[in-house]
Amino acid sequence: MKDFEIGIIGGTGGIGRWFADFFGKSGFSVHVTGRREGLSFPELVKRCRVVIVSVPIAATPAVIRQVGPLLPADSLLMDFTSLKAEPVREMMAATEANVVGCHPLFGPDCPSLSGQNVILCPGRGDLWLGRMQVLFAKGGARVMVATAEEHDRMMALTQGLTHLDTLLMGLTLREAGMDAATLDAFSTPIFRTKQAIIGKVFGASPDLYVGILAGNAEIGTVLDRYEKNLALLKGLIVNQDTAGLADLIKKPD
Ligand SMILES: NC(=O)c1ccc[n+]([C@@H]2O[C@H](COP(=O)([O-])OP(=O)(O)OC[C@H]3O[C@@H](n4cnc5c(N)ncnc54)[C@H](OP(=O)(O)O)[C@@H]3O)[C@@H](O)[C@H]2O)c1
Repeated sequence: MKDFEIGIIGGTGGIGRWFADFFGKSGFSVHVTGRREGLSFPELVKRCRVVIVSVPIAATPAVIRQVGPLLPADSLLMDFTSLKAEPVREMMAATEANVVGCHPLFGPDCPSLSGQNVILCPGRGDLWLGRMQVLFAKGGARVMVATAEEHDRMMALTQGLTHLDTLLMGLTLREAGMDAATLDAFSTPIFRTKQAIIGKVFGASPDLYVGILAGNAEIGTVLDRYEKNLALLKGLIVNQDTAGLADLIKKPD
């Protein structure tokens, strides 16, 4: 076993459970908690020099405020939240321990860390930041260090825009009111690929998507551009402006 134990609050759920497995396979002793199972926070903190918060976005600040003050200065408090500015700010305020914000850019259905992006946001303490960088890189991840604000700006663009687009297509399809068999009979391969993504988003618990979209202070610019470009496309299509549409598709910007 490695020289420190890892506690994951929310380790009975999706990404927390995934990392419990990863850390376990990397030789660490791991303790997971859910709302109704696992060690109490004081017990967890006593045993684990690394405590990771991996609970739904809306519940994250309250959990950080509960566990943060219990950690000694030489421990690490980390989180897996999909947004970073607020959790890192909350962790810095709640604890005297070292702080690292972490966002794994994949979901619990991912087979391994190999080739996956992991963002680390420095909070307090270079030693633990370095240890986490090495640990994830050893597992094959592409580790990027960024400020929490830079992370949220980038996620508005990559994750926010992706989910926004999926939700809009899903809502439009829902309003069309077609039954599944008819849609399937008229589907193209690319439609089926998109439909599978829509099914995943609309089939899952909405908490993650609600948090990612409504909780990111940087999403406004993306929404404005999306709306502007949808209006632009609509104008060209409705007016059958084929030259204008072709010009727009051709241009890189
Ligand atoms: N899923 C992803 O693809 C993904 C990827 C990257 C980052 N993240 C981030 O990881 C975090 C967890 O997401 P998830 O998808 O893994 O969620 P999840 O599957 O719903 O699991 C949530 C975990 O938190 C616990 N929990 C729920 N409400 C709680 C509360 N009020 N107080 C304390 N614990 C609570 C649950 O315990 P019970 O056993 O009691 O249910 C469970 O262990 C989120 O911040 C999310 O943004 C998710």
